Amino acid sequence: MCGIIGIASNKSVTPNIIQSLKKLEYRGYDSAGIATIESGNLDEKKCPGRVEDLEKILLKRPSQGFIGIGHVRWATHGIPNQVNAHPHSSDEVSVVHNGIIENSNELKKDLEKKGYKFKSQTDTEVITFLLTDFLKDFDLVIAINKTLKALNGSFALGILFKKYNDIVVGARRGSPLAVGYGPNENYLGSDSYALKSMTKKITYLDDGDVCVLTNNKIDFYNSKNKKINKEVLILSDDKHTAEKGDYKDFMSKEISEQNITSKNCVKEYVDHLRKDINLYNFPIKPKDIQKIILIGCGTAYHSCITAKYWFEELTNIQIDIDVASEFRYRKIKFNKKNLYVFVSQSGETADTFAALDICKKNKVKTCSIVNVVESSIARSSDFVLPIHAGPEIGVASTKAFIGQLLVLYILALKISDIRKEILKPDYEKKINDLKKLPDLIKKTLNYCHNNTPIIAKDFLKAKGAMFIGRGISFPIALEGALKLKELSYLHAEGYPAGEMKHGPLALIEEGLPVVILAPRDRYFEKTISNMQEVIARGGKVILITNENSKIISENVRFTLEIPITNENLTPLLMTVPLQLLAYHVAALKNCDIDKPRNLAKSVTVE
Ligand code: M6R
Repeated sequence: MCGIIGIASNKSVTPNIIQSLKKLEYRGYDSAGIATIESGNLDEKKCPGRVEDLEKILLKRPSQGFIGIGHVRWATHGIPNQVNAHPHSSDEVSVVHNGIIENSNELKKDLEKKGYKFKSQTDTEVITFLLTDFLKDFDLVIAINKTLKALNGSFALGILFKKYNDIVVGARRGSPLAVGYGPNENYLGSDSYALKSMTKKITYLDDGDVCVLTNNKIDFYNSKNKKINKEVLILSDDKHTAEKGDYKDFMSKEISEQNITSKNCVKEYVDHLRKDINLYNFPIKPKDIQKIILIGCGTAYHSCITAKYWFEELTNIQIDIDVASEFRYRKIKFNKKNLYVFVSQSGETADTFAALDICKKNKVKTCSIVNVVESSIARSSDFVLPIHAGPEIGVASTKAFIGQLLVLYILALKISDIRKEILKPDYEKKINDLKKLPDLIKKTLNYCHNNTPIIAKDFLKAKGAMFIGRGISFPIALEGALKLKELSYLHAEGYPAGEMKHGPLALIEEGLPVVILAPRDRYFEKTISNMQEVIARGGKVILITNENSKIISENVRFTLEIPITNENLTPLLMTVPLQLLAYHVAALKNCDIDKPRNLAKSVTVE
């Protein structure tokens, strides 16, 4: 998953390409590159590292062309080095690519036989040489479509041509791509977020589309080389900002915004006057739903697991949960009475999108819960429930998790009410509790602000860590472990507390940090027993429970007491100390908080 940008202008494109690449770094940040047309020739500059490193090269050797493409990479084929960085150019063509070409090895062999010499280990270079080859015998659009037909896999492409030196070409299959319309210039980008500062007028490409941009016009073609018309959309003004402000990094900003995220979300869906939830135009009658299938990846998948507990408690509907990368390849028995719910912050995750696509092909009802409302997943699903979290830039998902949990909970509540599976007073009480949630999150943030850095020190010398909980605390334990591993590179496992004796207890040794999630719920006593088993084997226990739980055990190293709320909302509060703990461990280890190694924010490859 990489980020691509292209600009055709009547002035130097380098400054805008660099600014856009900085916005696209959430898609990949192991190398960066730019190609422009300089005095009729293709000029490529690229390096391993960040966009900042590319800027340093451009300071010494400026690019001044009016036509250009840029790229930020998340390596799939070949290590992140200078040669593998994009663009990949021949004398005739320069290409930036997001996606994976699955038949690149076979194509490479054929091209080598024709005399093409490959420099990189990437799958992208075959596109450069295929285009170069077809251009010898065919006109532009035909050569492009012939190239695309030869490719298996997914791609969004930005292409420059020496021979056609006033255009940027874009093409997509499977990976997202948008164009933007500006005054005296036009843009190509992986998403509208990268284009937003330059234009509000955009068009999304569909699979099989090719676009040709000059500085004053954009033409679209289909795979049969025929010109087509596309809809122009006007992007809404974003009330949220994507600036760090006074925060050290985006993650600390995003964690501390969670009371606001929850406030926005509750405001959007809950009508406190009528004590009701607003959900209009739901695509399927809640009374007719036979089964709900919740699908996501990573943190979004953890919100699906959490929601299963809510749906099962509040409704009689059967609930399945699935990791998108598994769902998409299993033999699923689709049913028109089922509702398929896709959860994704970015709305661009390739596996989640593919799973949604399969559902659409099987003509079943789909709903998406997303942060980015202009995303591919939002645009493709029958019904969208935005989480209203504003831009989440840190790779570790934090406020989006809170938003996803809230929307899923609100959905479960509403469906339960419509199906008359919850009593009115209980429904209204739960709505009332939602109103109080933002303040409780704020209180939890303030409380954990000072003590989590101290607890984090205990993790520095640890070989790993465990997070355990029962019931709805189990998915939160999984999320705590994911946050710790992705930010601090410390091995971490999340487990249902009751499972410990079936194997994982063997991992407990003197000094191993074990985070026990034991809110005052129906599982409390049992979880505390599991905690004692950990203590008896030398584990260093960090207990997270509710205020006034009155657990006194001299062998508990730290106890964090979060506010009391209704049991359904406790997981949202439990999440806060886990996020802060992971944050502070990573900070003490000097890890790159917003851009952990080997990862990217938006996972647009399989
Ligand atoms: O954009 P999505 O919510 O679809 O992303 C899914 C996962 O890639 C994402 O949640 C990932 O696990 C995060 N880095 C976790 O913090």
